[in-house]
Amino acid sequence: MSQPCVRAFLDQDSETFSYVIYDHSGGRAAVIDPVLDFNYHSGRTATTTAQQLVDFVREQSLTLEWILETHAHADHLSAAPFIQQQLGGRIAIGEHIRDVQGIFQRVFGLEKELLPDGSQFDYLFHDGEQFSVGELTVRVMHVPGHTPADVAYVVNEQAVFAGDTLFMPDVGTARCDFPGGSAERLYQSVQQLLALPDGTDIYVCHDYPKGREHECRTTVAQQKQHNIHVHDGISQDAFVTMRNERDATLAVPRLIVPSIQVNIRAGHLPEPDEQGRRYLKVPLNRL
Ligand SMILES: [Fe+2]
Repeated sequence: MSQPCVRAFLDQDSETFSYVIYDHSGGRAAVIDPVLDFNYHSGRTATTTAQQLVDFVREQSLTLEWILETHAHADHLSAAPFIQQQLGGRIAIGEHIRDVQGIFQRVFGLEKELLPDGSQFDYLFHDGEQFSVGELTVRVMHVPGHTPADVAYVVNEQAVFAGDTLFMPDVGTARCDFPGGSAERLYQSVQQLLALPDGTDIYVCHDYPKGREHECRTTVAQQKQHNIHVHDGISQDAFVTMRNERDATLAVPRLIVPSIQVNIRAGHLPEPDEQGRRYLKVPLNRL
């Protein structure tokens, strides 16, 4: 199968890569992990970053079929509803999002407003499911560990959008200390990704470079040789010990409180009150 066309967009504020994947100009496309700008100090959202994806899809005369989330992000808000309003397409995520919704429904006291059944999304993928985007074939891999619901999207068996499972080789892997996270499961998920052919491109959801520019693409072979956390020869026990020790030193992500509340609603802001005002909650002493 041919290489998919991929265009990456970096949100500098959260160091997130969003992607447009497509079969050819004038063809069919999917957006992966779009970012909604959010200013915590003012509580103001903006669509400047997401508009770049919308402009690109229009310039290339693409028909958008899917808006894909790799997981419920804790570091940025999803712009999926804005993208959908502009371009159409179905908003989808892995089916284990229900577990994540159940966990955070209790953290944020959302029992009355949020059903933990995934119905906020247009579609939930199960492990191994395949779908097409025009001439592209996408296979869904459930890769839990960072969260219980992470999925990776393997496109044409040539490229995998790994979410927060693997980062660039010099950055390593994502934290596993969010509720429902597991270093053991992340290690096993990484082994599944590294079992793909050596030449498979891996596209990351974030990059946190030290002393180089942001990069979004590496390969299975490079990860096996050079990933500082999971290169060939590192055992599950050694990884789990390293990961758990490291996670104990990491700060809570700056935007976790707004991000989770919005992202478990498929990127929709909380329902407005009778006067049209929308609010987020700050749970005290729960995170
Ligand atoms: Fe994440």
